[in-house]
Amino acid sequence: MKRKLIREIFTSPETGSDVNIKGWVRTRRGNKNVQFIALNDGSTIHNMQCVVNPNDFSEDLLKLITTGSALSVNGTLTESKGQEQPVEIQVKELEVYGTADADKYPLQKKGHTLEFLREIAHLRPRTNTFGAVFRIRHALAFAIHKFFNDRNFYYIHTPIITASDAEGAGEMFHVTTLDLHNVPRTPEGKVDFKKDFFERETNLTVSGQLEGELAALALGLIYTFGPTFRAENSNTPRHLAEFWMIEPEMAFYDIHDNMDLAEEMLKYLVKYALDNCMDDLQFLNKMYDKELIDRLQSVVAVPFKRITYTEGIELLQHSGEKFEFPVTWGTDLQKEHENWLVAHFNAPVIITDYPKDIKAFYMKQNNDGKTVRAMDILFPWIGEIIGGSQREENYDKLLNRIREMKMPEDGLWWYLETRKYGTVPHAGFGLGFERLVLFVTGMTNIRDVIPFPRTPGNAEF
Ligand code: 4AD
Ligand code: MG
Repeated sequence: MKRKLIREIFTSPETGSDVNIKGWVRTRRGNKNVQFIALNDGSTIHNMQCVVNPNDFSEDLLKLITTGSALSVNGTLTESKGQEQPVEIQVKELEVYGTADADKYPLQKKGHTLEFLREIAHLRPRTNTFGAVFRIRHALAFAIHKFFNDRNFYYIHTPIITASDAEGAGEMFHVTTLDLHNVPRTPEGKVDFKKDFFERETNLTVSGQLEGELAALALGLIYTFGPTFRAENSNTPRHLAEFWMIEPEMAFYDIHDNMDLAEEMLKYLVKYALDNCMDDLQFLNKMYDKELIDRLQSVVAVPFKRITYTEGIELLQHSGEKFEFPVTWGTDLQKEHENWLVAHFNAPVIITDYPKDIKAFYMKQNNDGKTVRAMDILFPWIGEIIGGSQREENYDKLLNRIREMKMPEDGLWWYLETRKYGTVPHAGFGLGFERLVLFVTGMTNIRDVIPFPRTPGNAEF
């Protein structure tokens, strides 16, 4: 008999037909006359109720069916008398693939803390919570490609190993094949990277933007969607050392076009989840966050508020609020400041025109000599979800800024050449994928929205 996914069966149940399903036992209950096995195959949050007449099977076989064991079930699909599910399976045949020792299996019953589940990241996908989160994560990844494909953007694969630090923050993981116990040295005593694999110093990329710009200045509209790596030692619920970023880059776009696209994309993605993941969202709404679905619907409905950094600072200074960190023009906004602004407008907020000294070298310089055409999008609960800018397209201004910031100019010759040959206004942004998944699922720790999180001191699994 051809196996069916539980999701397929619930989508179009053909009662009276015989079906085969395979999955893992969530619970088993019942008595001498009737037993109920709740089977989950990962395709949906919903379990299939399998109804077993214990007299049809040997005691030895039934003993093996405990929480966590893996089964194949053949039977007839019938309407369910229970309230929980529309259909159930009257079991005719049972096969046990793998048992799960009832004394040892760590996921016996529900009610484990998320902290505990992080310690068993190899098994946590089998819980309702992580099944829901990872299905939503998939749907969002798919929707991102759909959004861009439908708008004539091309997906570009930018390198994982680079020799540049796009953000200039120096938070990079080295990539080397040098023997760390016997490092080759130059006559001056420095590490001799000429002897390394790439004959230069290399690192894991912090962003695909610089190469993305090269592609946009040829293909027009592009996006990247890949892993990025930051060795920042920030143990917060919103930072990962390895995270996924979506970076569109658009030739002939200015900062306003950039904001319009970012707002349209975020709304599209949240709406996609509401339209396609309602079962999983309802589960998360019920279990973790009673306002989740309302919050998602409100983000789709409201216009994002757009203000400049300078306006933001003035609002914060006149807020009458006692902030832990002082609000002064020229310093970066802290989490508490971002939260206040989002709450004040009761909408996502796009902040533009930041002081140039707290932003990356590539951002377009404003005529005031102090600010750049940056844009950060702040979301309720999350804070910064997107960072982007219009890019400096003027060769001399860009080169000056690289020198002012004492960046390694030699390594950026190829980037600078795009401003020599056919330069055009262009803009782009980066969406942190896990921050988006965090917002959509209502989870509160970024470690719970990526299957195998990488954070300081944590690279198991
Ligand atoms: O603001 P960031 O650093 O911008 C860039 O990397 C630009 N090159 C993007 C561009 O213009 N193409 O990072 C972009 C987003 C942030 O807004 C945040 O959502 C996410 O990436 N992000 C992180 N997410 C998880 N863990 C971290 N350590 C993150 N650092 C940034
Ligand atoms: Mg940023």
